[in-house]
Amino acid sequence: MTTLERIKQLKKEKNAVILAHYYVDDDVQEAADYVGDSYYLSKAAASAEADVIVFCGVSFMGESAKILNPGKTVLMPDAAADCPMAHMADIEKIKKCKEEYDDLAVVCYINSTALLKTYSDVCVTSANAMDVVRALPNRHIYFIPDANLGQFIASKLPDKHFIFNDGYCHVHKDITAADIQNAKEAHPDALVLIHPECTPDAVALADYAGSTTGIINYASASSCSEFIICTETGVFKELKDKNPEKGFYPVHGHQCCTDMKLITLEKVARALERMEHPVEMDEETRRKAARPLERMLELAQ
Ligand code: 13P
Ligand code: SF4
Repeated sequence: MTTLERIKQLKKEKNAVILAHYYVDDDVQEAADYVGDSYYLSKAAASAEADVIVFCGVSFMGESAKILNPGKTVLMPDAAADCPMAHMADIEKIKKCKEEYDDLAVVCYINSTALLKTYSDVCVTSANAMDVVRALPNRHIYFIPDANLGQFIASKLPDKHFIFNDGYCHVHKDITAADIQNAKEAHPDALVLIHPECTPDAVALADYAGSTTGIINYASASSCSEFIICTETGVFKELKDKNPEKGFYPVHGHQCCTDMKLITLEKVARALERMEHPVEMDEETRRKAARPLERMLELAQ
């Protein structure tokens, strides 16, 4: 039996559903029932009816699934797959900032630990951050942990006053303005599509900036036939599947999230076989972290 056949059989036996982020390897995406960006996957996790959710992604994604759908067993194929940015905010700084501004909203990118979420007023993903922050009554916004996404949203919402944190995604931060200029020279007819976790000077050179799904949708709807892609390489699968006639070029050769790539088909099968790496958290943390996530789902509608 192939690993994929084993996974299909185990899914039936355990009444499981598989969720995968676009950044995991192609064969893992193919084995999944739901593939998408962080926003889509958080909604899929919240409404999942199966007993078991296997989350092919990094820790904060599995944690968010457990927080939103606590009655389910959420399994992580590799417990070490973690997003470094999820830890890049400081609770003491959040407390200080809350003391400083009466009307402060702590806006927490979903790429964050459950603990950071418990200190936050609302969560966002790159797909809904603009709508969610715009809908907040608060003028002062402390945006954690990602500085670049915070600056991108701030540039679109001039009526709000942002306080930035210094977190970053190393994969997107590594895509420089010079990389984009070089790629444009190599492909002068291509449009540049970028994720807003990239630095502002890189985003300024792009024709479109948006979430992983935003990038895929933009390329699919565009009349242009060539694109320079400034995000993690996992998106190439969906881009090419949806648009076999179009050309997609990586902005440079190393836009790879090594944590996402820890997830393999074999680990998915093993997680189901052994019910391995269930997400666990104390009920108080779960309950407090659920508030900002649920508020995101309400405001982003
Ligand atoms: P989105 O899924 O919101 O595009 O975010 C990308 C990302 O870095 C996920 O870890
Ligand atoms: Fe974290 Fe960046 Fe990897 Fe996403 S791509 S999981 S933000 S390190």
